[in-house]
Amino acid sequence: MHDYSRYLDDTGEDLLSNAHNNSMLSRIKELAEALKPRLIEIRRHIHAHPELSGQEHQTAAYVAGVLSSCGIVVQEAVGKTGLIGELVGRTDERLVAIRTDMDALPITERTSVEFASRRQGIMHACGHDVHTTVGLGTAMVLSQLGEVFPGNTRFLFQPAEEIAQGAKWMVKDGAMNDVSAIFSVHVFPSIPAGSIGIRYGALTAAADDLEIIIMGESGHGARPHEAIDAIWIASQVITTLQQAISRTQNPLRPMVLTIGQISGGRAPNVIADQVRLTGTVRSLHPDTHADLPGWIESIVASVCNTFGARYEINYRRGVPSVQNDLALTQLLEASAKEAWGSDRVQILPEPSLGSEDFAIYLQHAPGTMFRLGVGFRDKQNYPLHHPQFEVDESAIVTGVVTLAYTIYQYWQKRG
Ligand code: NI
Repeated sequence: MHDYSRYLDDTGEDLLSNAHNNSMLSRIKELAEALKPRLIEIRRHIHAHPELSGQEHQTAAYVAGVLSSCGIVVQEAVGKTGLIGELVGRTDERLVAIRTDMDALPITERTSVEFASRRQGIMHACGHDVHTTVGLGTAMVLSQLGEVFPGNTRFLFQPAEEIAQGAKWMVKDGAMNDVSAIFSVHVFPSIPAGSIGIRYGALTAAADDLEIIIMGESGHGARPHEAIDAIWIASQVITTLQQAISRTQNPLRPMVLTIGQISGGRAPNVIADQVRLTGTVRSLHPDTHADLPGWIESIVASVCNTFGARYEINYRRGVPSVQNDLALTQLLEASAKEAWGSDRVQILPEPSLGSEDFAIYLQHAPGTMFRLGVGFRDKQNYPLHHPQFEVDESAIVTGVVTLAYTIYQYWQKRG
């Protein structure tokens, strides 16, 4: 357990430290502004050279080069194609981490920007090019600040977020060893650039994979009484699952079950002996998440037993829900409001049912992830994962200052 209660109480701060904070915030803003052309150049380079999950070799080498050039200690090949950089503090017994992800998507870019993807069929359509740049910018600013923090600040550059594997690879290679808090960021096109979104509690959903195989008995299409129709029973299973969500699940603990694929049957006049259903299951509350496999099996079993079919269920746990830590989110909110003013820091009322493997790190240390507004005010904003997705690059400085000042405040409070 960690004691963050001191974040909650600012009364101990004297005027001198307020003045110091103000000048430190101005200094961080100046450094980030001065780095802006370089950061835009970095982001455009990464954008033009996207790499798929698990293949981020060139991106990792490029990131390692930038980190080394600003005096950050680099450890390559952490989490397969990931890496970490470390800004060394006074002692190495305490550690705060920032995580950014580096992979792109199998999407053909349809923007007209001059730095559009040079790799056919691969695109940074989820803004991970911006995340990587914000991570680098934060490392550059903190390394130029002239402050030696009480502990180390570790920068995790993670691969393979889009296939929900990279965080596991990083953790397996020790990236979370000794970490006592972790921060992260994701771009969000529906928040305008210059603003950020903060969320208390659940930010994203748990996402699990589901496969159900229904096994009946084949027979002549004209003689159903001699067969067990797997297609009809599968349709009962789907309908019962959807109705049971509304009648047996707590409506204040949302979940989504989508069967996205169904296959089975051999011929129009032959009753199907087997049907395979696959889908995704999203949930927010940890208790709902824990109960899902048993709940699904009970429904599938009762339908199949009623009509004499057999079944097999393969339930694969994906990433859990991202649950932002209260005290670290308060620290982030206070730092961001000081940097940008209250009207540019939105408290998000709702989570997303998307998933994010940042949740894996939160099994090892408390943390918080915020949404970085990248929306244009004067043109259409396409959603994440869209072939025309673009970002307002002024958001890079907003992200860097927010993270750098939050880390500074983290060390102030823990110093
Ligand atoms: Ni993403």
